[in-house]
Amino acid sequence: MVTTPLHIYTMFPKFVALLAIACGAPGLAQTVYLAGDSTMARGGGGSGTEGWGQFLAQYLTIPVVNMAIAGRSARSYTEEGRFQTLISTAKSGDFAIIEFGHNDGTANPDNGRQDAVGDGYDTTSLVTAANGTKFLVHSFPFYIQNAVDALKAKGAIPIISSQTPDNLWTGTKLSPPSRFVAYAATTAGRTSVSYVDHFAYVAQAYQALGQTATTAFYPVDHVHTSPAGANVVAQSFVRGLLCGSSSLKSRVNSAGQSVPNGCV
Ligand SMILES: *[C@@H]1O[C@H](CO)[C@@H](O)[C@H](O)[C@H]1NC(C)=O
Repeated sequence: MVTTPLHIYTMFPKFVALLAIACGAPGLAQTVYLAGDSTMARGGGGSGTEGWGQFLAQYLTIPVVNMAIAGRSARSYTEEGRFQTLISTAKSGDFAIIEFGHNDGTANPDNGRQDAVGDGYDTTSLVTAANGTKFLVHSFPFYIQNAVDALKAKGAIPIISSQTPDNLWTGTKLSPPSRFVAYAATTAGRTSVSYVDHFAYVAQAYQALGQTATTAFYPVDHVHTSPAGANVVAQSFVRGLLCGSSSLKSRVNSAGQSVPNGCV
């Protein structure tokens, strides 16, 4: 029996080694890869909306590849092999920004996206599929930590980012974060990777603009932003980056240095 956590990506060592030889040539420019859901993805959550990942490149000196996909959670991004694709694609020195939470909440019957409730790496839940089959799902930290560890093993630089806020207000403040914001912070601490509290930085920007101006960024629902809103969300990420410790902040260009607001 192994006594250390069994990491799911160690199932592919030969595959990863071959890709490292194919893709790991030194001296190539760094790339920023994005893993997330509709709030980050190209095309956002459908008509009239856009994901913030589409606006990040204009604030950086290196290219961005947006691999976020609408509707995904930490679990479904894992189970569909999308983290594996990212891990296989990233080369040493590349960055990977990982941001989930909007689709990770509980569901009964299982919706293919929910995570086990709790922040332990080993936390699991027994869930029931629509056809009555019961099976175990893992925690948000489990799925994220496996991806982070596999990315680090390739020499890539993961950054964990907390999910964006919904356009829901309590007085002049945005409503409090979901538990996945705390889980993201916990996972970053546990894996010793840089953390951007994107929720807090977007909340700061929205509260500075006020509820009326913010609500104009939400054409269809309280989750998905217009292109103008996505740009504010991208700027807020850059502000969080500049206020943090990630080496990606050395790749922020002059437009990025000028994004509004201060450190939270
Ligand atoms: C029941 O649903 C689960 C989850 O979608 C699936 O893995 C399993 O194959 C299904 N079983 C049957 C008998 O259809």
